[in-house]
Amino acid sequence: MGSLRKERPLRQLFYVLRRSPQRGIMEHQYFIKGGNPLVGSVEIGGAKNSALGILAAAIMCDETVTIRNLPDVNDINVFINAIKSIGAQIVYPNPNDRHIVMINGRGIRNLEVDNEYIRQIRASYYLIGALLGKYKEAAVALPGGCNIGARPIDQHQKGFKALGADIKIDKGMIYARADKLVGKTIYLDVVSVGATINIMLAASMAEGKTIIENAAKEPHVVDVAQFLNQMGADIRGAGTGRIRINGVKKFKAADHEIIPDQIEAGTFMCAAAATMGDVTITHVIPQHLEAITAKLLDMGAQIEETDDAIRVVVPKRLGSTTIKTMPHPGFPTDMQSQFVVCLALASGNSLVTEKIFESRFQYTGELVKMGANITVEGTTAFIQGVDKLTGAIVKAPDLRAGAALVIAGLSAEGCTCVEDIKYIKRGYENFAEKLRSLGGIIEEREIASHEDQEHEMRRLELVG
Ligand code: EPZ
Repeated sequence: MGSLRKERPLRQLFYVLRRSPQRGIMEHQYFIKGGNPLVGSVEIGGAKNSALGILAAAIMCDETVTIRNLPDVNDINVFINAIKSIGAQIVYPNPNDRHIVMINGRGIRNLEVDNEYIRQIRASYYLIGALLGKYKEAAVALPGGCNIGARPIDQHQKGFKALGADIKIDKGMIYARADKLVGKTIYLDVVSVGATINIMLAASMAEGKTIIENAAKEPHVVDVAQFLNQMGADIRGAGTGRIRINGVKKFKAADHEIIPDQIEAGTFMCAAAATMGDVTITHVIPQHLEAITAKLLDMGAQIEETDDAIRVVVPKRLGSTTIKTMPHPGFPTDMQSQFVVCLALASGNSLVTEKIFESRFQYTGELVKMGANITVEGTTAFIQGVDKLTGAIVKAPDLRAGAALVIAGLSAEGCTCVEDIKYIKRGYENFAEKLRSLGGIIEEREIASHEDQEHEMRRLELVG
């Protein structure tokens, strides 16, 4: 590897210049040396997607609510800054611990939420439901989030309009206003987590009864409903396809612990499986992981469950399977990419069909660079298992695919560099630290140039 630079042909040099981080712009990257089976025990944090709905709900209350088991990840911290910027009071009772936060929405004066950060996260849309419900007015920058498909918000708008709000979209902002909100029956044309939670937020302070038909049943929908109910809302049926909400006038103080993150847990289950390891994943609700567990069993993993932990053991090469992503209780789209990594290394041919987000196979090109044999046609990936993956420089295109590429790096021969890890940091807390505690060799470095990147890869190649 020593004289790599001198011998690099022109085409390769062009490739390097095109993709290298610009000099002077520091970028965080993961450097991974693969080959170690992950072994040990790892604790799962609070569910990011639950927390986002709960933080929005919290600002609807003029008394102080306490939220526990909050994940300390970038999307959450951006969201907290956004609610602070409109006047919500935010207190961390233990200054060095960002997992418990106290929120009071009494001081909210500004009903317009816009800054460069909030535009990057998807869940900014929950502020429309929360502010519209409480103040009958909201203006929020249109949601960004991971680039995994078109991601329209027509069902959110349909719900708000049914409750009596005028909705206008102008210059990247969504404006919602109502003289009053009145409960209605709303049939969702597609099962949407975001629309279900958003309508639940607004309807919980509307006059009379709202029914959401064809509602999403995800555990985080139930968690947000439970938190709203603790604050005095009257919501029944969360977790089924029909949610009934009787509006109330105001909320009271509450104290709530966020459920464990089903997708973080599933990601570590896949990391254990792909590296043929033995990992106990603690602080989980095994029922929330049933679709994931069932697939791993199908592929030949050994799984042991206790009340709040799952052990995944993979003593021999996994077998192939077929996966179709579906709304809960089906197989979650947020676990699709991590399973594709496992299947890329399994024996036999597998089929994975993405039914929720049409552009969620972008990362497969990166896996192909690592030696995977994957062909994507439309929304289906055809995977022919290979004996091994080999390290490469790859780019995380979104949060879950980023985590999947890290798993691929941990299972590959040699060194992998994962670029654009900012996506991973949106939703995984201490990801590298947790993997290291299981024996994974993974380091985060600030990189300013391709030379630095090459140097890190060479250095890591010598480790172990
Ligand atoms: C949530 O996104 C999650 N994000 C996503 O997590 C997750 O992948 C997704 O639910 C599905 O489980 C948050 O909770 C912040 P949807 P959301 O509305 O609410 C279509 C992650 O990695 N649709 O349930 O935006 C939509 O296009 C992420 O943590 C409409 O057509 O997803 C999709 O096909 C990424 N119109 C389907 O419904 C609408 O108005 C489900 O989307 C809304 C959605």
